[in-house]
Amino acid sequence: MAGIWGLERVIRLAKMATHLVLCRERVTIYPLPGGGVQLFIKTRRAVFCLPASYCYLWVPQVSWYQTHPFTIVSNGPSGVELVIKVCDGFTKDLYESAERNHPAICRASIDGPYGSLPDTTQYDKLVLVAGGSGAAFTFGLMNRILNIDERIKARSIDFVWAVRTTDMLSWFRDHLLNITSRPTVNVTIYVTGSEKPPQVKGSAVDMRDVLPEIPKSDISEAGELESLLGNHSPAPEAMATIEYGKMSTDAVIDKAMQTVSGDDRVLVAGCGPSTLMEALRGSVVRYGAKNECRIDLHCEGYDS
Ligand SMILES: Cc1cc2nc3c(=O)[nH]c(=O)nc-3n(C[C@H](O)[C@H](O)[C@H](O)COP(=O)(O)OP(=O)(O)OC[C@H]3O[C@@H](n4cnc5c(N)ncnc54)[C@H](O)[C@@H]3O)c2cc1C
Ligand SMILES: NC(=O)c1ccc[n+]([C@@H]2O[C@H](COP(=O)([O-])OP(=O)(O)OC[C@H]3O[C@@H](n4cnc5c(N)ncnc54)[C@H](OP(=O)(O)O)[C@@H]3O)[C@@H](O)[C@H]2O)c1
Repeated sequence: MAGIWGLERVIRLAKMATHLVLCRERVTIYPLPGGGVQLFIKTRRAVFCLPASYCYLWVPQVSWYQTHPFTIVSNGPSGVELVIKVCDGFTKDLYESAERNHPAICRASIDGPYGSLPDTTQYDKLVLVAGGSGAAFTFGLMNRILNIDERIKARSIDFVWAVRTTDMLSWFRDHLLNITSRPTVNVTIYVTGSEKPPQVKGSAVDMRDVLPEIPKSDISEAGELESLLGNHSPAPEAMATIEYGKMSTDAVIDKAMQTVSGDDRVLVAGCGPSTLMEALRGSVVRYGAKNECRIDLHCEGYDS
C-alpha cells in the first residue's frame, strides 16, 4: 500500500515538474484578511481547469516536496483562481510568503483537474450550502453554472454560506457581488462567530455596503468578474440576507423546498466541515422521507 502511495507521489511530482519547466507556469499569491490566501495560476492548460473541480498545487519555492489539493474557484484571464484557508503547514508557508512579498510571484505547477460533479443543467432548483472555506466549492459551482448561462434550467438557486467572521466574505468579494446581483439567486449568509452590530437593522443588506473596495493593485484580478459576467449588466443592487447565529440545515431545506413544485428536480450540493455535511445529509433525508419526494445530494468533504 505504502509503495503505491509513494509511486503515485513520484509520478505526480514528475508530471508537475514537467509542466513547471516546459509550460513555465507561475502563481501570484495574495494574503487575505483573517487567515487566507488567494492564488492566480497562469497555465497553458487553464482551459481544462473547470471551476468546482480540484487540482494538486505544487509551489517548490514554498515546499519542494509537498503537493496539496485545492478547489478551483474560477478560471479567467488572470489565471486559475484558488482561495485557501491557512492551516499550520504548507498553507501557512504560502501565507507568510504572500505577506512578505505582497503579492508573492513564483514558479508553480498544478496537476488536475480531478473530481466529478452532477450535471447541474438537469435541475429545476439548486441549493448550494457551504461552511467556511468550503465556499471555494460552491462559488466554483456557481461560476461553472454562470459560464453555461444559456443552458441553465434552474429557475432558482439558493446559495447558503456559514462563516465564523465577516472577514471571510471579502475572500470571495467579486464572486459574491456577482451572484447577489442575479435575480434568480437567493443568497443567505450565517455569521456564527460574532454578534449582530447594533447599527445593522434587519437582515437584508446590499453587499456593496458590506464588502470593502478592492485595493488598486488588485484591480487587474477583478477582471475575473468581467469575464464571468459576460453580457450581464450589473443590477442596481446586490442583495443578500445576513443572519447572525447558527445555520439550521432543516430550515434551509424546508425554505428551499417551498418554491418547488411536483415534478421539479432538486439538487442540494454542499461543502464544508464534516459536522455541517452530516447535518445537511440528515436534513435532506428527513425531508425526502417525510414528504415522499426525491432530492439529489452531492457533498464534498474530506475531514478526518
Ligand atoms: C479535494 C479537496 C479540495 C480542497 N479544497 C480546498 C480549498 O479550496 N480551500 C482550502 O482552504 N482548503 C481546501 N482543501 C483542504 C486543503 O487541502 C488542506 O487544508 C491543506 O492541504 C492543508 O495543508 P497544511 O499543510 O497547511 O495543513 P496542516 O496544517 O498540516 O493540516 C491541516 C488539516 O489539513 C489536512 N491535510 C494536510 N495535508 C493534506 C493534504 N495533502 N490533503 C488533504 N488534507 C490535508 C490535515 O489532515 C489537517 O486536518 C481541500 C482538500 C481536498 C481533499
Ligand atoms: N472541495 C473540498 O472538498 C473543500 C474545499 C474547501 C474547503 N473544504 C473543507 O471545508 C471545511 C471548512 O472549514 P473551515 O475551517 O474553513 O470552516 P470554519 O471556519 O470552521 O467555518 C465553518 C462554518 O460552518 C458552520 N457549521 C459547522 N458545522 C455546522 C453544523 N452542523 N450546522 C450548521 N453550521 C455548521 C460553523 O458554525 P459554528 O461557528 O457554529 O461552528 C461555521 O460558521 C474544512 O474541512 C475544509 O478542509 C473542502
